[in-house]
Amino acid sequence: MKVLIIGSGGREHALTWKLSQSPLVEKIYCAPGNGGTAGIAENLNISVDEIEVLADFAEGENIGLTVVGPEDPLVAGIVNLFEKRGLKIFGPRKEAAQMEGSKSFAKNIMQKYNIPTGFAQTFTDYKEAVNFVESHEMPLVVKADGLAAGKGVFIAENRGEAKKALEDCFVNKRFGSAGNKVIIEEYLEGEEVSLLAFTDGKTVLPMVPAQDYKRIYDGDLGPNTGGMGSYSPVPVVTKNIYDTIVNKVLKPTIEGLANEGIEYRGILYGGIILTKDGPKVLEFNCRFGDPETQAILPRLESDLAEVMFAVVEKRLADFGELKWSKKSCVTVVLASDGYPGKYEKGFEIKGIEDASLEEGIVIFQAGTAMKDESVATAGGRVLNVSALGNDFKEARERAYKAIKKIDFNGIYCRKDIALRAVKSQSGVGSGPARQCLTT
Ligand code: GLY
Repeated sequence: MKVLIIGSGGREHALTWKLSQSPLVEKIYCAPGNGGTAGIAENLNISVDEIEVLADFAEGENIGLTVVGPEDPLVAGIVNLFEKRGLKIFGPRKEAAQMEGSKSFAKNIMQKYNIPTGFAQTFTDYKEAVNFVESHEMPLVVKADGLAAGKGVFIAENRGEAKKALEDCFVNKRFGSAGNKVIIEEYLEGEEVSLLAFTDGKTVLPMVPAQDYKRIYDGDLGPNTGGMGSYSPVPVVTKNIYDTIVNKVLKPTIEGLANEGIEYRGILYGGIILTKDGPKVLEFNCRFGDPETQAILPRLESDLAEVMFAVVEKRLADFGELKWSKKSCVTVVLASDGYPGKYEKGFEIKGIEDASLEEGIVIFQAGTAMKDESVATAGGRVLNVSALGNDFKEARERAYKAIKKIDFNGIYCRKDIALRAVKSQSGVGSGPARQCLTT
């Protein structure tokens, strides 16, 4: 079978890497892919938003399964289009992808079906939103309703910050139509975890938990990024917490959507805060997390193509359990100096092959491109170094040892990825992670 993977980041390289191990998969195309996918797949010069062109390609090439990485094409309806043309595609339809595409839609579902989450109110009027801020205790979280490339969420410590965020959405139109509707919600205090599940709209098959690091600097300081690292599993997620998230969040959400006439197929990503009152939903995403996927897939022992087919063909109930390695995985992102602000690109990357030979290491490329015969930087987040180890201490040591072998102009990474997990695993208090929203 031929597979088409849509997207160009580290997540898509990880999906390509894992799917390439399946006996069901003969050839993989990536649209557009990156320098890493070029080694195991054929990259196509088609961007993620050219959904008609992608469907034409899938039809013409007899693609057996298309896998969508990022949220934008899902929210734009790529799955609806492919299905209309009789093409098999992994991901939720447009109606279901609203769980990420519209914060107010997701909040309404949560409120209607008693999914634990913070209080929230939706506004389409600037003055009413300002009045709400005036009459509520701070901090509050202000979110543009629609997709805003990771920049539409503000944690407002005081009323001035909240009003500035509202002004950005309603008055300055910083997020275009995505900010015409705004939701203001409770700031949830506690450690954040990501729990992703495969679902065919009926059966929910949860993965192992992961945690990501969204801020640029050590200690969760500085501006938000697309993610500076991740690890899996998450020691603070006990069996009891895990079961609570599955039974009180993921399953009732899929059931609630079904009750609304919306069949959700693909990945449901729960962004959960472990509050003192129990796990509560911070946000839902309609796709694999980035960089969580890069720490989750190296631990997956089951055939990813098989489970994806079971989702697409609505027979997940017969799939059985997913098999996972007991090892710990740590993923460290290597970024370009200046990211998430301005940075330069086009620098040659040295040492990827050498670093890949280190024990337990797999390197996923993100913002890279082929330049002549070598790999060069082409984005803010350049490489993801994932390391498996018998525990987090070993996995971390392996990751940072491999990183020493890699070099490019302006290389930067956080030095504290998974330190929290090492401390939890060794019984030393780790202190809470800060809530750093990205959607
Ligand atoms: N890691 C956060 C996200 O994928 O949205």
